[in-house]
Amino acid sequence: MMAAQLESDTRRVPRHIAIIMDGNGRWAKQRSLPRVAGHRKGADAVRTCVTAAIEAGVQYLTLYAFSSENWNRPADEVTDLMNLLRHYLRREVAELNSKNVRLHFIGKRDRLAPDTLKLMESAEELTKDNTRLHMCIALNYGSQCEIVEAARALASAVKNGDLAPEDITHAHVADNLLTAHIPDPDLIIRTSGEQRLSNFLLWQAAYAELVFLDVLWPDFDACALGKAIDEFQQRERRYGGR
Ligand code: FPP
Repeated sequence: MMAAQLESDTRRVPRHIAIIMDGNGRWAKQRSLPRVAGHRKGADAVRTCVTAAIEAGVQYLTLYAFSSENWNRPADEVTDLMNLLRHYLRREVAELNSKNVRLHFIGKRDRLAPDTLKLMESAEELTKDNTRLHMCIALNYGSQCEIVEAARALASAVKNGDLAPEDITHAHVADNLLTAHIPDPDLIIRTSGEQRLSNFLLWQAAYAELVFLDVLWPDFDACALGKAIDEFQQRERRYGGR
């Protein structure tokens, strides 16, 4: 989609787009390449996607880079993905910062290597005042686990006498999720033709439009993003009303 076209209807550009980046392995297999080649091309697609999201006027972009279930992949693939993430952060953060992009991570930080954590924290610190696009990378993220943690925090508050069970509202749950400071996604895109949420933003997806694209993630580009936004714009959001 053309930027000018989008600008004429910015009201309906989704404020927050979240993406399940799927199909790196199949992209590599189609070319008889190792899976890591697909992930590498996938990291290039992340860069393309960020630029396209900025152009389109998107304010929040959440990318599912590594789920809590991805640890179950063969060890060498996990290592490749973590190396790639470190490489991405070393190579891209300065440029993201110059584009006024704020970078931040959601997910459990317990199993990540110290040098990865350091890169993540310094990227968050460097970009914390940036305002053009809030980019959120879901890393070692699982939505059910996130909801369990929120339940634990609320149970503790009840146990300590700080909160009565009957006073618990949607807002209490939302405020105890890792996404407490960002709006819920308006549009969730999954590439590669699969049609599942795979433990991604389950609570936050309550009213999101879901768009499944046939493109494999390494081939994702501005045109694919425009197609998903077009589809979003054709849907009528009712939030349970009429
Ligand atoms: C799914 O493809 C993709 C992943 C598990 C990893 C996503 C990672 C990247 C795009 C690269 C690095 C990310 C950043 C933020 C720099 P798959 O391997 O499940 O593909 P398949 O279903 O075709 O096998």
